[in-house]
Amino acid sequence: MDKSGGYTAFPFVAEFYDDTVPYNERGDVAFFVEASEAAVGKTLEIGCGTGRVLIPTARAGFEIVGMDLSTVMLDICREKLAQEPPEVQQRVRLEIADMRDFDMGEQFGLVTIPFRPFQHLETVEDQMSCLQAIHRHLVPGGKLILDLFNPSLKMIVSDKTKEEFGDEPEFTVADGRRVLRRMRVSNKDLFNQINDCEIIYYVTHPDGRKERLVHEFKMRYLYRWEAEHLLIRCGFEVEHLYAGYDKSEFGSKDPGELIFVARKV
Ligand SMILES: C[S@@+](CC[C@H](N)C(=O)[O-])C[C@H]1O[C@@H](n2cnc3c(N)ncnc32)[C@H](O)[C@@H]1O
Repeated sequence: MDKSGGYTAFPFVAEFYDDTVPYNERGDVAFFVEASEAAVGKTLEIGCGTGRVLIPTARAGFEIVGMDLSTVMLDICREKLAQEPPEVQQRVRLEIADMRDFDMGEQFGLVTIPFRPFQHLETVEDQMSCLQAIHRHLVPGGKLILDLFNPSLKMIVSDKTKEEFGDEPEFTVADGRRVLRRMRVSNKDLFNQINDCEIIYYVTHPDGRKERLVHEFKMRYLYRWEAEHLLIRCGFEVEHLYAGYDKSEFGSKDPGELIFVARKV
C-alpha cells in the first residue's frame, strides 16, 4: 500500500502537479513565507512535494528543510531547486521520511504541513504519532501550522460527489499533453470520517491518443474541536484558527479552511 496518499504509486500526479491550475492559484504561499519570517529558527515543511511553498520560502531568504515520503515528488523538487541560484539552494535540505514518525536530527522554530498532507493519516494513532514527532522537533515555544480543509456537511451528505464533478479548465504540460481533471468520491466511510477520493486525469497526447488516469487516495476529515483536542493532547496550545490564508477568522467563510497555528507548550 502507498503510504503517501498515492503520490508514489501514481507518478503522473507529480508530473502534472505544477501545471494544475487550482494548485497554482491556491494563494497560500505568502502566508507560509510570512510565517517563516516570523519564526525564531529554521522551518521544517512536512509533505513539501514539488517545492511549491518551499522554493519561494528559500528565495525569500529563510532556511528550510523539506520532507516528503514520495521520491517522485521530491525528485521534481530537486530538479527545480537545481535551477535556483546557489544561495537559494544552500538554504534548503530535502529528506525522504514518513510524517508518521521521523528524526531530522535538529529542532525548528516552525513546522508546517501545507495543503492537507496530514489528512492522509487515517488513524488517531498515526495522527498522534505525527504530532508527537513534530513536538520533539520544535524548539520551546516553536509553532506548528496545521493546514486542513473544513469538512462541509453539505458535501458529505450530497450524492452528487459519487458522480464525476469539477469545472477546472484544461491545462497543457511542457511535452504538449493536454490534461483535464475531474473528481469523484467513490465511497464515504461516515463512521471513520474517511473518503475514498479519485482525481481523474483525461489526457490527450500530441498525436491525438487519449488516456484516462486515476489517482486514488483516502482523505480523513477532522472537525474543528476534534483537531483542537488532538493538538492539546499532543502538547500544543492553539494560538489562531483561520478560515483562509488571508487570516480571516474561522467561521467567516463556509466551509473555508481549517488552519491552526499552534504553539509547543
Ligand atoms: C497535496 S501535496 C502537498 C505538497 C506541498 N505541501 C504543496 O503545498 O504543494 C501532499 C504531499 O504530501 C506528501 N505526503 C503524503 N503522505 C505523507 C507522509 N506520510 N509523510 C510525508 N509526506 C507525505 C505527498 O507525497 C505529497 O507530496
